[in-house]
Amino acid sequence: MANYDVIVIGGGPGGYVCAIRCAQLGLKTACVEGRETLGGTCLNVGCIPSKALLHASHQLHEAEHNFAAMGLKGKSPSVDWKQMLSYKDDVIGQNTKGIEFLFKKNKVDWLKGWGSVPEAGKVKVGDEVHEAKNIVIASGSEPSSLPGIEIDEKVVVTSTGALELPKIPKKLVVIGAGVIGLEMGSVYARLGSEVTVVEFLDHITPGMDAEVSKTFQRILKKQGINFILGAAVQGVDATKTKAKVTYKLRKDDSEATIDADTVLVATGRKPFTDGLGLEALGVEVLPRGQIKTDGHWATNVKGVYAIGDAIEGPMLAHKAEDEGMAVAEVIAGKSGHVNYGVIPGVIYTSPEVASVGQTEEQLKEAGRAYKVGKFSFMGNGRAKAVFMGEGFVKILADKDTDRILGAHIIGPAAGDLIHEVCVAMEFGASAQDLALTCHAHPTYSEAVREAALACGDGAIHA
Ligand code: FAD
Ligand code: NAI
Repeated sequence: MANYDVIVIGGGPGGYVCAIRCAQLGLKTACVEGRETLGGTCLNVGCIPSKALLHASHQLHEAEHNFAAMGLKGKSPSVDWKQMLSYKDDVIGQNTKGIEFLFKKNKVDWLKGWGSVPEAGKVKVGDEVHEAKNIVIASGSEPSSLPGIEIDEKVVVTSTGALELPKIPKKLVVIGAGVIGLEMGSVYARLGSEVTVVEFLDHITPGMDAEVSKTFQRILKKQGINFILGAAVQGVDATKTKAKVTYKLRKDDSEATIDADTVLVATGRKPFTDGLGLEALGVEVLPRGQIKTDGHWATNVKGVYAIGDAIEGPMLAHKAEDEGMAVAEVIAGKSGHVNYGVIPGVIYTSPEVASVGQTEEQLKEAGRAYKVGKFSFMGNGRAKAVFMGEGFVKILADKDTDRILGAHIIGPAAGDLIHEVCVAMEFGASAQDLALTCHAHPTYSEAVREAALACGDGAIHA
């Protein structure tokens, strides 16, 4: 047993970042993690492995589709799936060991095992009870399935199973056209699977700016992904090697089935709080399972805080990290803050899709007077040189003050480009501030500047 200033439960991006920041602020800190490795969902079965597979499969796509045009001729590489998985595992290992190193460097104790909170000020791990002045719950999330669907992680899988399938399926059916469905669908489509995405709504990526969403769907379709929209999945019948997905089209209630070797259920995630003892402790939980917190990530039980996927808000690693840093500051008596209006979202397909702030639909609904500056990557020399002319940058600014209200990008390196708009928004910048900033040529970021120019007197290369 030991006494700590802070014990963080969960070693994902929320928890490990919080623990490191607490230690940096001079607090004696431990982090409880039940997995074999640190890094949570993100490093072990989420962000990092999915990006490794996206990277590898993208290289194959480039070789198959663009190499010959650039005068790079010869046989395209063939896929050694076992090796691709072992590359992905190696990337995971490097990252999770990196967190272990950071814990040692910052003197954060890793308490290995599953933790619970028998009472405020105490954390139980195995048979040991540790004392902590403050407890931060960063227990993350888990996949949520649909009624009538049994996940076996072999034929009917969540993202976790989809990251380690024994072989590349001939036919993959993805249920849900959200972030996981489209990223993992892209991976397998590039590796040769026939991919069909079945989505309940009549559009993909709910919540995304509609113009971007439409362009995105058109591009993915061209890449060979099939979409069945407006379809409510009724159930999945699976054997040991095959499955049948039954869905009902919402427009006419007609029922149909589709065959698959593998079914990926990607219909969202839900907070994971099992085994923490929250009910006995009296911690308030919202109807959808998230731990209720106030503006400073405090729960209703004194000395118990919560962050990341386990609380409300977008289920994103960087949102969890920001909350981890901020709550550490609050516990240390400083003023931690997260600007929830400027949290970017990125989909790491090719092209990438990135957004921050308000969508055009949200502005319309709010009755806000706005203007749109749009610029196509067709007018960007660098993008054309790398076969990435499809897509655009769209900046939304206040009609009167020119203040940037949102940005939506579909195109090369969109996930990196979005951040200059994030910084601009943090500083309350106008579109003209971006437009008057010199951007190096030839870069993709010139497209962001051109979209900002289009909010004013007009883009140059449009
Ligand atoms: P988690 O990462 O879920 O970590 C929680 C940790 O707590 C887990 O390791 C768990 O074992 C541990 N834990 C839980 N309860 C206990 C307990 N009682 N005792 C001890 N340990 C416990 N987000 C992005 O921003 N970008 C991406 O590209 C991205 N890609 C993703 C791809 C996939 C396939 C998935 C599934 C998710 C992806 N996400 C991505 C989402 C991202 O992974 C999560 O938002 C992020 O991991 C949340 O961090 P967290 O710290 O709140 O929780
Ligand atoms: P999601 O919420 O992004 O998408 C789920 C989709 O499933 C929605 O389009 C929804 O309409 C659809 N759906 C729900 N019920 C359905 C039904 N019965 N039939 C057909 N479709 C149905 O959830 P997803 O993709 O599972 O991802 C979970 C979380 O992980 C997300 O919140 C996301 O933030 C995070 N994540 C983030 C990534 C990133 O930042 N690049 C990558 C992967 C995951």
